[in-house]
Amino acid sequence: MNKPIDIPNPVPFQITDPAQIPTPRYYDEDFYRLECEKLWPHAWQMACRLEQIPNVGDWVQYTNVGKSVIVVRTNDGVKAFHNACRHRGVPVTEGEHGNCRSEGFICPFHGWRWNIDGENTFVYGRHLFDEKQLEPQELALRPCRVETWGGCAFINFDDNAPSFRETIGPVADNLEARGMSNMRSEWWFATVLPANWKIAMEAFQEGYHVMRTHPQLQRAQPALYNTRYGHDTGGIGSPINPNLTVRQNIEQAFKGMELLSEGMAGMVHAKEVEIARQLVGMELPDNPEQAMMTWYGAVAAQITEQLQARGEPVPNLLEVMQNNPVQAVEFLFPHYFLLPTFTSMSSYRIRPLGPEECLFEIWSLTHYPEGEEPEPPMEPTFLPYDSKDFPPIPQQDYANIPTQQKGCHAEGFDFMRLSPQIEGLLSNYQRIIDGYLGDVPQDKLAAAIQKLGGNFDGPILDLGF
Ligand code: FES
Ligand SMILES: [Fe+2]
Repeated sequence: MNKPIDIPNPVPFQITDPAQIPTPRYYDEDFYRLECEKLWPHAWQMACRLEQIPNVGDWVQYTNVGKSVIVVRTNDGVKAFHNACRHRGVPVTEGEHGNCRSEGFICPFHGWRWNIDGENTFVYGRHLFDEKQLEPQELALRPCRVETWGGCAFINFDDNAPSFRETIGPVADNLEARGMSNMRSEWWFATVLPANWKIAMEAFQEGYHVMRTHPQLQRAQPALYNTRYGHDTGGIGSPINPNLTVRQNIEQAFKGMELLSEGMAGMVHAKEVEIARQLVGMELPDNPEQAMMTWYGAVAAQITEQLQARGEPVPNLLEVMQNNPVQAVEFLFPHYFLLPTFTSMSSYRIRPLGPEECLFEIWSLTHYPEGEEPEPPMEPTFLPYDSKDFPPIPQQDYANIPTQQKGCHAEGFDFMRLSPQIEGLLSNYQRIIDGYLGDVPQDKLAAAIQKLGGNFDGPILDLGF
């Protein structure tokens, strides 16, 4: 696939060879401004987790690229409003979250008020204003599109954009089959990274970096990673090392699980590791491939059975692995992604704070028995990006991101050189961004975004424009 994209309007630093990403896209001020104008206001943005707003009147503020939106739980479901007083524009919320059931929203400047449905309920000194300024539709908070999916609220400023589901496509169903709507946040961390938001995203768009960035994972399962990215052959993704016994291969696979769990918590939850541990010594066929399949099948079956027995609303993993396959990382364009392994997941959201800075959040998501859900974290724990309190895997990823940002400015480094086979997701993502910036029609953009499902470690694709 080497076709340059065909877009109506020119974009600065546009991608002309899909395997080459011009580096100014990661720092140029004008390119950043164009993203703020043409990408973010038209894309579905993950605004909050729904367990943050369980009760009527609960609200959270979501901000990105200078805009603020209130997401609120009402009697008729979740609504969203642009956060600006209709009088003179002051945001009508104070703080990041709260409950407005009894008082509604009160502007801190001159005290105008709204109920939780955004209808104005009070203008101090009404007689001082013209009738036409007091029309209810003039005074109502401006609604913002919102859809709920997967335990989150997603907002979009564009009334003409295709719906969230039409945009994300089948990957939403495949993730939902894993019980996403029942998942709760176990912890939530945030950090500010001195890097363009796309540099940060791209650090998670391929597994090719594991060998050098996460050597402990490579060491635990060299056959797995070498067959994917190295020179060994033996079947794509085969975790079998022919030099080891069946039992040793299983021990390696288990060690891999343990390391993912220690390294990234929700990606493989400690409770899932404990269940897998019970199966390391199980009776297995002599054929190594069959043994590995049997073992992973037994792990999936036991995780399902034991967690369901504890009352956790987890899906039947064997069924979903068969019917709703997902990749190790799944991206919901533009800035939210999930790492589904068994029943728990890590989830990430990235927001730009400028051309060379971004806000990076990680949630660990898991299931709890009904009625035993802990209080959700309402705000992230902020840490410096080089904090040793981050789990080891993000620590390793964060180490590269700021230095890569600096490298983008080097003389003579004009573009990233991508593997068209396994770094295709980076190119596909970036070319969809060009589609937004260059005014490709929204239905075509949605069709292209749907192709990102399952594209982790995948090829450069024809995006249809
Ligand atoms: S700006 Fe909000 S009441 Fe005046
Ligand atoms: Fe990584």
